[in-house]
Amino acid sequence: MNGEARFLRSFPAKPIVAERASNAELWDEAGLRWLDLGGASHGVALVGHNHPAVVAAVREQAGRLIHVAQSVQSAVRAGFLDRLHSHLPPALERTFLANSGTEGMECALKLASAATGRTRIVAMQRAFHGRTLGALAATHRPEFRAPVSGLLPRADFLPLNDMEALKATVTQETAAIVLEPVQGEGGVRPASREFLRVARDIATDTGAILIHDEVQSGLGRTGRFLAADAANVVPDAVVLAKGLAGGLPIGACSATAELAAKLPPGGHGSTYGGNPLACAAGTAVLTVLEQERLAERAARLGEHALSRLRRLDAPGVRDVQGAGLMLGLDLRTRPQPVLKALSGAGILALGGGTTGVRLLPPLTIPEAQLDEALDALATAMQAPEVPA
Ligand SMILES: Cc1ncc(COP(=O)(O)O)c(C=O)c1O
Repeated sequence: MNGEARFLRSFPAKPIVAERASNAELWDEAGLRWLDLGGASHGVALVGHNHPAVVAAVREQAGRLIHVAQSVQSAVRAGFLDRLHSHLPPALERTFLANSGTEGMECALKLASAATGRTRIVAMQRAFHGRTLGALAATHRPEFRAPVSGLLPRADFLPLNDMEALKATVTQETAAIVLEPVQGEGGVRPASREFLRVARDIATDTGAILIHDEVQSGLGRTGRFLAADAANVVPDAVVLAKGLAGGLPIGACSATAELAAKLPPGGHGSTYGGNPLACAAGTAVLTVLEQERLAERAARLGEHALSRLRRLDAPGVRDVQGAGLMLGLDLRTRPQPVLKALSGAGILALGGGTTGVRLLPPLTIPEAQLDEALDALATAMQAPEVPA
């Protein structure tokens, strides 16, 4: 048995042994070149794979100080937090640093529980928030929750953008309303601006904590630093992760000072969260986002891609949705034949829900490579094995 076969995976591995990558391109051991439209990095390659500024920052920091625990102060962490908060709504004053998106969600849910003393979670159908128990409780897909269903807190799942259902379900017993401003894993679906505003109002009226999960939609991907910025809605806590440290493990939960103050002494922590190496990489990522104006670029390229997807003349497409460089096709059938045809053309895309094809390219992808992927998608939709 080779080492990879020993890796305990709960999903099939792609037939690729990755060797190196640069921006949107990845090369395997056989020397084949692939384009990462999200299928290789699941959206982590936000500023591309191995951005030179991130590589330089990691090298420099690794030579100096890789780790100190959260109990020890660090100028690198301070600099990173200052930089991160310069992009966040001013009302979100405090950030906990963790190592993944799901851990960021755990922090947000813990804060909601500590602040309200309540236990009920209201989440959205098709939502994905992570694989640890709290985040999983708010994740909709029953297959993901089934193995540990007995351990999970109870959540009510409502259709996204259904304001009446939200009004009817959120009560004085609700600890948190949890939502992705643009859903990803369940299929790309933006929450409407009105829904985001109504959720904000209902949370305020009932005393529930509003948690935005921007693990996938944040950091400029949809054209704004946070997707919810477009609706001018500020949650009580927002969770970020994915590309925030250029591929090093990171997660962040940013909250209002009022909410953060509800955490009792010793109420949360993480050995690695906020370590200097991840923070140095994070500072480099934020610098690249600013200097290369990547949110604006995502908006521009996203419009181009969306209009190309909308022009796709394929009867198998039920709907096309997107925000910036978070793009989705909703098909009438399962997406696997399309993903397979794309893979045959060297394009690594993602599924979304049971019928979605999802594209999460780096915000730095050269336009010609984005078009190469969209051409391949148009061809894949015509492949004989793809049902109409
Ligand atoms: C919206 C959202 N939340 C949370 C997570 C979990 O992040 P992680 O896999 O880093 O724990 C993901 C991962 O894809 C995600 O897309």
